[in-house]
Amino acid sequence: MKLYAEGWNDYELIDAGGGKKLERFGEIITIRPEVQAYFPSVFPLKDWQKKAHFEFVETGKNKGDWKALKQLPVSYKWAITYESLVINLELTKFKHVGIFPEQNINWQFIHEHLEERHNFLNLFAYTGVASLVASAAGATAVHVDAVKQLVTWSKENMISSGLDDIKWVVEDALKFAQREVKRGNKYNGIIMDPPAFGLGAKGEKWILDEKLPLLLETASQLLAPGGFLVVNTYSQKIDLKKLGELAANYFSPSEMSVSELWMKTTTEKKLYYGNLLRVEKG
Ligand SMILES: C[S@@+](CC[C@H](N)C(=O)[O-])C[C@H]1O[C@@H](n2cnc3c(N)ncnc32)[C@H](O)[C@@H]1O
Repeated sequence: MKLYAEGWNDYELIDAGGGKKLERFGEIITIRPEVQAYFPSVFPLKDWQKKAHFEFVETGKNKGDWKALKQLPVSYKWAITYESLVINLELTKFKHVGIFPEQNINWQFIHEHLEERHNFLNLFAYTGVASLVASAAGATAVHVDAVKQLVTWSKENMISSGLDDIKWVVEDALKFAQREVKRGNKYNGIIMDPPAFGLGAKGEKWILDEKLPLLLETASQLLAPGGFLVVNTYSQKIDLKKLGELAANYFSPSEMSVSELWMKTTTEKKLYYGNLLRVEKG
């Protein structure tokens, strides 16, 4: 499978601004709220609305409804490709559609660093694109998410992508990782995209600011020699400096790097998507 960080035909971040973003996922164009788009957009919203099929209109904090701007039902389901993978999409009540395209850069990294017989752990795995990329590279992927329906969605993505043999775990990510340490298991690659706030499979409270140190420590114990760790964070309380300082407690400066994750719109606006930690064990 060949993957490219640039030139992915089935996704386009078209424009951003005014607290929203205009995106194309394959055949479908959406307008979604985007808190990081605090600047004016290049094209006015009414032009976006002429193009888009669906708009997510917020009705409160973290709440809203999809509005159809063309003759399509909001229950509409479709699929896009990412290289050899086929990812099934739909309009969810949390404004997401089943893929976080900014993760493209991490999927590329995973693809380049994994080989046959490698073990790969995907924590907070959502609809599983990273698990599929690892599996397509020949690795054994272990996919962990607290939400059963998201694991079901990931299995559908595995089947539509012509893959098999991913290990599915519905559990609190940190608890699972801690158990893996006790069992003495090791991984050649680990990715984690923890939300700022979340819930484990048994209602365990996930608060990134409180639990990130323990999660990083646990990940450091799971990494095999030569293995890699990729961590995304989206919390205002953990800026780039803080992320670097936390990681420095478990990894040496020569094996880690921190950077910001940005994406450019086709109209040349830059959108911030959080912070990124990468570790490559010597
Ligand atoms: C931001 S999404 C990850 C997106 C993913 N990296 C991707 O690009 O497709 C966060 C995920 O964490 C899951 N989650 C939240 N709290 C969790 C917990 N305590 N344990 C395991 N998964 C959790 C959510 O169900 C959600 O799927």
